Amino acid sequence: MGRAFPARQRMATLQTHLAVHENTPALEPFRRAWGSLRILTCFVLVGFALVGCGDREDWSPLDGPWDPDHPRAEAILAEPDLGDPIDEEMAEAGERWYRVRGCLACHPMEGGPATGPAMGGITERREYDWFKGMVMRPDSMVREDPVARELMEVYRYPMPNQGVDELRVRAMWEYLRWYDQERRR
Ligand code: HEC
Repeated sequence: MGRAFPARQRMATLQTHLAVHENTPALEPFRRAWGSLRILTCFVLVGFALVGCGDREDWSPLDGPWDPDHPRAEAILAEPDLGDPIDEEMAEAGERWYRVRGCLACHPMEGGPATGPAMGGITERREYDWFKGMVMRPDSMVREDPVARELMEVYRYPMPNQGVDELRVRAMWEYLRWYDQERRR
C-alpha cells in the first residue's frame, strides 16, 4: 500500500507532521514568509484597483486629499462654461461629497420645507464664484453679500461652514450642473 502510493503517503505524513508541530519555532520563518507574501499580494491588488479606477493618465485628485500644488490644479478648478460637457467622473464624486458633507440634509434637491433652500436650479440662478463663496465662507457672505443676507432673513438659520476644500466645491458644482441639465429635459 505504502509502496503503491509513495507520494500520497509522504504528503499525509507531512500534513500530520505540520499539524502536530503547528507551534514549532522551526516553522516560524516559513509562517512569516507566508504572512509577508499575503501582505505583498494585497498591496499589488490595491495598486491595480487604484490604477483601474481613473481613466486619467495620472493620479486623480478625486481619489484622495486635495493638493493645491497638483500639477493640473488650475485646469481642474477652472470654472466651466455654460456649454461645457459634464465631466462625469467629477460629477459623481461631487454627488458623493454633497451627501457625505451633509449638504443634502439641509438642501434637498427639490421642494421643501427644509432648513435651507432646495438646490435644484442653483446653477441657473447663481454664478459659480458666488456658490463657491457661499460654501467656503458662508459667514462672511451673509455679512457682506446682499443676496446671502436676504436668504438668511428668509431661512433664519446660518448656513454652517462645512470645511469643504476648493476641489470638492468644484466637483459639487459639476454634479449640480449635471442635475440641472437633466432637470431641463
Ligand atoms: C445645517 C443646515 C445646512 C447645511 C448642512 C448646509 N447648508 Fe447651505 N444653507 C443653509 C441655509 C439656512 C441657507 C440660507 C442662507 C443662510 O441662512 O445662511 C443656505 C444657503 C446655501 C446656498 C445658497 C442657496 C441659494 O438658493 O442661493 C448654497 C449654494 C448652499 N447653502 C450650499 C451648501 C452646500 C454645498 C452644503 C454642503 C457642503 C451646505 N450648503 C450645507 C443651511 C445649510
